[in-house]
This record gives sequence, structure tokens and C-alpha cells, in this order.
Amino acid sequence: MESFPVINMETLNGEKRAITMEKIKDACENWGFFEIVNHGIPHELMDTVEKLTKGHYKTCMEQRFRELVASRGLEGVDSEVTDIDWESTFFIRHLPDSNISQIPDLEDSYRAAMKEFVGRLEKLAEDLLDLFCENLGLEKGYLKKAFYGARGPTFGTKVSNYPPCPKPELIKGLRAHTDAGGIILLFQDDKVSGLQLLKDDQWVDVPPMRHSIVINLGDQLEVITNGKYKSVLHRVVAQTDGNRMSIASFYNPGRDAVIYPAPELVEKEAADEEVYPKFVFEDYMKLYTEVKFQPKEPRFEAMKAMEASHGSGPIATA
Ligand SMILES: [Fe+2]
Repeated sequence: MESFPVINMETLNGEKRAITMEKIKDACENWGFFEIVNHGIPHELMDTVEKLTKGHYKTCMEQRFRELVASRGLEGVDSEVTDIDWESTFFIRHLPDSNISQIPDLEDSYRAAMKEFVGRLEKLAEDLLDLFCENLGLEKGYLKKAFYGARGPTFGTKVSNYPPCPKPELIKGLRAHTDAGGIILLFQDDKVSGLQLLKDDQWVDVPPMRHSIVINLGDQLEVITNGKYKSVLHRVVAQTDGNRMSIASFYNPGRDAVIYPAPELVEKEAADEEVYPKFVFEDYMKLYTEVKFQPKEPRFEAMKAMEASHGSGPIATA
């Protein structure tokens, strides 16, 4: 099997630009995932975020996780657990409004480092979306605009730790799913692996790599590209040794953004091509929260049915 795609972003600025763009295109079409290095985010900032995240887990999260494990009897399970994941998480919202000042237990230095880090990730997400536009033959800014809605994109970060698990064969760190949103940027542990994606019916490891950012595509990019780019199934396998850190930032459409296949990407295709649905992102999210761990195809079908029941006119976004 080909190896997991790693893109050196610095090579976009030289004679290797065309080859690099081709690598990104191949990753978007055939993997739904890639890993970027030399992305411009200072390594010292990443080191600070990592140190503070791991410290915060020890001080504020670990005890709570142990209590959850004890209350659910997860250490002693003897059959597969399908309703809970072996993960400790908290969520920070950045856009359209930040809630970072309201999250308890965060030191000021952690808030400040996280703010700077996610500011850079936001810019990186928008730069990557423009690279996708270029590869897709869409005008610059098309995807950013498609996500914009009335108040701009939704952007948030899920900070997770996957502590050592005594029974990884019975309880997943995170059960298999595709991501609902747009583009996801992940700062993952550089030593403790566990993230896997499904490619050609096989689970493939996303290799830990110091100071890299893992990129993956959510369901909305699959819809807007009318299936040219794929949102792929992934999961976290808990490890028996080591605590895995995972800081995943989700650059998603605004809740009222109307999502539909880019006309340029539909018209070029054969007339009998299956066309993805048109819907308001918030409606998709309502459904997704109920069926996150189920296949994406029925979600697209449900959105199609909703579109049909609205008739062919524009969808109300109020
Ligand atoms: Fe995910």
C-alpha cells in the first residue's frame, strides 16, 4: 500500500509547487487525510500548547476521568462497549464567538497560548481551503464563502486525552465516524499513536510526527465537491501504554450556511451523475449528533429527502 501522505508546505513556494499541489489533490481524492510539515506555525508555540495541555489534564481532568471509568465499571468489562469512548475531553469555541474566557480551570497562560495557536490554525485552514479551490478549479475564496453564512464560519477545538486503557480490544478511544464539518486540523501526540483511517477496507495508522498537523476533510467538503473529495471513516484505538494527546480544531460552515455541490463540479460530469444534496448546515448537524457513529450515506439521503420536501425553491435559512 502507498504510504500515508505527508506534505511539506514549504515546497509550495518553489519549483516543486506543481508536484506538491498534485500530492495534496491525490490526498484529498484518495485518502481524505494528510499530514503537513513546515506549515509556518512556530514549533515553540506548539511545544507550549502541548506542555500546558498535558499539565491541564493531570491537574484538572485525570481524576474526573478515573471517576467516570469507576462509575461505569469500564476497567472490568468483558464484552465490547458500544456507547462510550475511552477519552477525556473538553471543547473550546472560537468562532463566531469565543467562550475560552468562560471555561473553568484554564490558567491564563494556557488560554493565551491556545488563543494564539488557534488563530494560526484558522489562517492555515483558510489557506488550505484556497489550495483546494485551486486544485478543484474553483475561484479563490469559493470554499471560505460557501462556509460563511451570515456570521462567518464555526470554529472550535476539541481537546482530548486518551489515557492508557486495559482493554483496547473491547473499548475504543473513539468509535469510527466521519467528521460532519469542513476541514479539521489536528495536533496529535508525537509519541502515542492510535488514530486510524479506513482506506480500501483496511485500517491505516496516521503516523505520529513531531510538530506536524494532521488534516482531514469532513462531510461538507464531500458535498460541496460533489464527492470528488472524500470524508473518510476514522477512529482512535486506545493504547495500553502512554497517554495520547489530541487537539482537534474544526473549521466548519456557519450554522445558517447553505451547503450544496459547487455548480462547476456538477456540470462537468455526466448527466446521470448522482448529485449531493442541498441543505442548511444546522439541519445536518442536528441529524449528525444523533447518528455520528453511523455511516454518512444515510445522512446524505435524509438531507436529499428534506430537500425534496422543500420543493425546488431556495431553502429558508431563518
Ligand atoms: Fe473525527
